[in-house]
Amino acid sequence: MESVATAIRAALLTADPRAKCFAARGTARRWRKGELVWRFDVDMPDQPARPERPELLAPNHMPKRGKFGSERARIALWHSLAHIEFVAIDLALDMAGRFGEAMGTEFVSDFLYVAADEAMHFALLARKLRSLGSDYGALPAHGGLWEAAHSTRHDVAARLAVVPMVLEARGLDVTPVTLERVTAAGDHSGARILSRILDDEIRHVGFGTKHFLECAKKAGKPADSMWKDLVREHFRGALKPPFNDSARLAAGLSREFYEEVAL
Ligand SMILES: [Fe+2]
Ligand SMILES: [Fe+2]
Repeated sequence: MESVATAIRAALLTADPRAKCFAARGTARRWRKGELVWRFDVDMPDQPARPERPELLAPNHMPKRGKFGSERARIALWHSLAHIEFVAIDLALDMAGRFGEAMGTEFVSDFLYVAADEAMHFALLARKLRSLGSDYGALPAHGGLWEAAHSTRHDVAARLAVVPMVLEARGLDVTPVTLERVTAAGDHSGARILSRILDDEIRHVGFGTKHFLECAKKAGKPADSMWKDLVREHFRGALKPPFNDSARLAAGLSREFYEEVAL
């Protein structure tokens, strides 16, 4: 039987977006059905495979989105969201494949579940882009989204602190604002996609928090101060309010965690 690590590695090294979604969802399904054996016999790649397009640019080189409400701005919005979800597939796969052996079966199940969710999010957004006459890859995209993964590749607690508990939690803060705008613009299919993503992301942050608490317990440290230290060390940006306190709390992130770091 194929090892779970081999299947995860193969999905990470799949460049074509549609094929990567297929590989991520297939890996999650095979794991759930007991068709992959618990063995970590291959290393995860430093960088996952990327398609030729989109062109990846430094954030300060990204072209302006165009006037709010314009067709160009709408496409740019959905394109940037699709790119975030595309990278999120690899972030979840890498989490499971790199740290799964040390963290256990529930951890692997949780993050393969996340990988399958992200693949679905990406597919919905790519379809949305096609309905607007565009496609994923048509515009340049943010080239820095893998950085947080790379800089935390040796430390699962740091990875959990930064990726689900800072970056994905940030999504909980900003998605309702986008959802409101999209709804106000009368884009009902777009609104449906965003509400589904928001619901799923609460669960993703929740998985991150749950396993981070596990790490803190093992280390014998108070979770909130351990989290703050790791965020200060590994995350270069600022934690910016306003926070979506209710969604964060639903994911197990209480204000004690992020209040102080935000100041
Ligand atoms: Fe997502
Ligand atoms: Fe997510």
